Amino acid sequence: MTEFAKIEPSYLSKDGCRLIWKGINEDEQDVVVLDKGEFDKLVEILSKDSTGRVELEDEFSNILINTDTTQFHLRDHKTLEAQTSVLRKNILEFRKIPHEPKPIKIYPKEFFPSIEIEKEDDEVRNKLLNTILSGSTNQTIDVSDLFRVMSTRRSTRNFDTSRMIEEWKVEKILAAADTAPSAGNFQGFEIFYVKNKELKKRLIEAANKQPYVNAPIVLVFCMDPARVKMNFPSEMLAKFSLQDATLAAAYSQLAASALGLSSIWIGMIDEEQIKKIIGTDLKPSSILCIGYPDHKRPPKSRRKLKDLIHVLE
Ligand SMILES: Cc1cc2nc3c(=O)[nH]c(=O)nc-3n(C[C@H](O)[C@H](O)[C@H](O)COP(=O)(O)O)c2cc1C
Repeated sequence: MTEFAKIEPSYLSKDGCRLIWKGINEDEQDVVVLDKGEFDKLVEILSKDSTGRVELEDEFSNILINTDTTQFHLRDHKTLEAQTSVLRKNILEFRKIPHEPKPIKIYPKEFFPSIEIEKEDDEVRNKLLNTILSGSTNQTIDVSDLFRVMSTRRSTRNFDTSRMIEEWKVEKILAAADTAPSAGNFQGFEIFYVKNKELKKRLIEAANKQPYVNAPIVLVFCMDPARVKMNFPSEMLAKFSLQDATLAAAYSQLAASALGLSSIWIGMIDEEQIKKIIGTDLKPSSILCIGYPDHKRPPKSRRKLKDLIHVLE
């Protein structure tokens, strides 16, 4: 049982907001993320002291503003409620102050209107590992099923540049990087999210002229050994931070696939050029280019598992 508690800025944008409900336990929390349009509509209704309805991104979920109570009817999620007067006060105060995007933090439960979680089919679930081994593909993306996401992922170098990437998807992808394990949990990496078109063009040059680096979403993963506060030789800390940055990028890549996006990992990079372009002293490890694929393709085949695994008994 959660109660409406507060409003926070969105992760990456000055617009929109995150509405937070809290329960008795610290980790008991519900969050509804509103984009700019949804937030503005809610403000419009509340500031007029009137009642109304705000449709959310998935065209199913909605916010029903009544005189006493405001209900959030959400897909695959219990209905959340807030007292309209409390919500109005919070929303109108929140709107007055300019907000910087909030640093990313993972919460156990967040509701994003466009996510569709498929119900698990027992038969499919039992076959999942076989599906991975045989390399066969199922194009349906189920965000709750890691194995299926792994077995259907395929790199893309041709993006559908006409399709915008939803901001909540970018947030998820960045948040996924933050869940990766890291040496000593020091998270010896940083991510540079390159939105600037000019910088993207320069990154193409720094990536051996690979044209697809100009993707809708471009993330440069950098190593930050100084974050790794462990008493080991500097070469070991450098190695840790390379592994940290690589793992984080891999987590983001999988998250992108889980969200129906595609990506290409760019390892062929001129580190010094990239450092200059993105304005950092940190060494880049890889660039992850993400977008909607212009068409979906099945995964590539791999060597046989028996050739990969060396069993030592
Ligand atoms: C360390 C690493 C470096 C890579 N560098 C590049 C690159 O510079 N350019 C590129 O087009 N693809 C690059 N790739 C993508 C691989 O070519 C791709 O992952 C591989 O062909 C397997 O295809 P799949 O990802 O669809 O399974 C790289 C992948 C990895 C893991």
